[in-house]
Amino acid sequence: MAKFSLRIIIVLFLVTACKSKTEEQAHSPIVDIIPLPVTAHVKDGYYTLPDTVTISAINPDEISAAAFLIDFFSTQKVPAKIVSDSVGSISLRSFVSKEILPEGYYRMVINTDGVDIFSTSASGLFYGVQSIMQLVQYDQSTVKVPLLTITDFPRFSWRGLHLDVCRHFFPVDFIKRYIDLMAHYKFNTFHWHLTEDQGWRIEIKKYPKLQEIAAFRKETLIGHYSDQPHKFDGQRYGGYYTQEEIKEVVAYAKQRHITIVPEIEMPGHALAALSAYPELGCTGGPYEAATLWGVFDDVFCAGKESTFTFLENVLDEVITLFPGEYIHVGGDECPKARWKACANCQKRMKTEGLADEHELQSYFIQRMEKYLNARGRKLIGWDEILEGGLAPKAAVMSWRGEEGGIAAAQAGHHVVMSPGFALYFDHYQGDPKNEPVAFGGNSPLKKVYAYEPIPAALNQEELSYILGAQANVWTEYIKTPEHVEYMVYPRALALAEVVWSPKENRDWASFVTRLPHQYMRLEQQRVNYRKPSADELK
Ligand code: ACM
Ligand code: ZN
Repeated sequence: MAKFSLRIIIVLFLVTACKSKTEEQAHSPIVDIIPLPVTAHVKDGYYTLPDTVTISAINPDEISAAAFLIDFFSTQKVPAKIVSDSVGSISLRSFVSKEILPEGYYRMVINTDGVDIFSTSASGLFYGVQSIMQLVQYDQSTVKVPLLTITDFPRFSWRGLHLDVCRHFFPVDFIKRYIDLMAHYKFNTFHWHLTEDQGWRIEIKKYPKLQEIAAFRKETLIGHYSDQPHKFDGQRYGGYYTQEEIKEVVAYAKQRHITIVPEIEMPGHALAALSAYPELGCTGGPYEAATLWGVFDDVFCAGKESTFTFLENVLDEVITLFPGEYIHVGGDECPKARWKACANCQKRMKTEGLADEHELQSYFIQRMEKYLNARGRKLIGWDEILEGGLAPKAAVMSWRGEEGGIAAAQAGHHVVMSPGFALYFDHYQGDPKNEPVAFGGNSPLKKVYAYEPIPAALNQEELSYILGAQANVWTEYIKTPEHVEYMVYPRALALAEVVWSPKENRDWASFVTRLPHQYMRLEQQRVNYRKPSADELK
C-alpha cells in the first residue's frame, strides 16, 4: 500500500466531499476541453509545473497512463519523468473506491500544490490524462494548468468512428494515427471496414487468393460517379493488412482503450471475394473486383453450403485477431436479382420455408449470428438486417436515417446510431463549390453537433438499447490520409461531445469558443483539419 502524503489525503477528502453534480455546475465557467467534462469547477489562478514534471505512478494502470503523458510532454519539449513517490507534480491514482467514484469515472483536482487524477479504472485514468493534455498552457518559459476540479465520465458506451480501407487503402501508420486522435477525443470504438466490392483488405491464411487476387482491382474510376462517360485511370490498385499488422493495430488500440470492430461484408459488397473464389457466387462468374463505385448484383450465393463454410472459416480467423465482443457482418445493399434466378438459392428458400429473398437474407444473417454466438461473439449489421426478420440477438447500426434504429430498439435490440443525414463524414461539410469532390450530401459541423443519438420516439426502456453513435468515413472520393483528416476533423470533435458529454451540457456557442484551442493542438500534430468559415460557426 502506498504511503499517502498529506496532499493526497486532503485531495481524497475533497473527492469524497465534492459529490453534488448540480452544486458544481452552478459554479462552472467553461473549461477549455473537448469533449466537455460532465462537471468542471474552475477557480482563479494556475498551478505552475516545475522545470522537470514528475508524474507519480505506481501500479500498472497508473504507469501505462503516465507513459502517454510522458510522450505528450516530450512532444512539447517539456522535461518530464515517471516517479514512484506517492506524490508528483501530477499524481495518477487508481485506488479510489468504487463507492466514491463509479467505474469509468475520473476526477481531476488541480490546486496550487499539483495535479491529482483519480479513477477506479485504467480507462478513467487514461481519459483524465487526455484532459490534462488539453489544459496545459504556456506562458513565456512557464508551463501551467488552471486550478479546477473535474468529475467526468462518458454518456454512451459506443463512441465510434469508422474507416473504409477498401475503396482506398491506408497504411498501418495512418491507422495508428487515426486511433491516436480518436483516443485523445475519448472515442472508444474503431469500426474497420475491411472487405468490399473494390478490394479485400485482411489476410486470411486459409484463402490465399484473397491476398493474391481479391486485394487488387485493375483500375479505378476518375472523378465523380455522376460524371459521364465514366473514365478510368488504368492503374492496378490494392493492398491488404497482414495478420501480424492487424495484431499490432489491435494491441495499439487496446492500449488506448479503443476496441476495434472488424467488418466482413456479407452477403452483398462481395465482388472482390468472388473474383478470387467465383464458385461462391450464384452464376460461378467470372467476376472482377469493382473499378466503379455503387451496388452490384453479384453477391454471395445463399444456396450453396460452400458459401457458409468459406465465411465461417474467414470468421474463425477474424475472431482470433479481434478480441472485441462485436463482429460486423455488413448486411447492407444486397440486391436480390441473382438469388431470384439461382436454382441453389431457390432450393434453399423452399427447404427452409422462406417466403421471399428478404427472408433468405435473414436466414443468411441468422446463420452467421448462431456461428458467432457459439464462439462467444455478438453480431452487428447495417439496418437492412431488419428486413425479412432480425436475427434474435443482433445489434443494428442505423445508417438509412433513424427508423431502423428505432424499430430495433423497440424490439429490444441494441443499436448504434450512424444516420447518413448527420454522421456520414464522406458527405460535404461546406459549399460543394469550394470543397474537394465528395460523395454528396451535406453534413456541416453544426449539424453533427446538433445530432442527438436518442430519438424522441423511444420510451425510457427502449432508449436503454441505444449504445451510442458513430460517424462513417467511406473513401470512394478520399484517396489520401490527408484527405481523410480533412473530412474527419473538426467534425469528429463535434461528435466526440455528442457521445461523451451530458446532453444538457451541449452548447454550440460554447463549443465554438473551445475550437481554436483544438485547432492549435491539431496543427501541432500536423493534422490536415478543415477550418470552418465564420458563417458556418454562427
Ligand atoms: C452503407 O452506407 N451502405 C452502410
Ligand atoms: Zn445462389
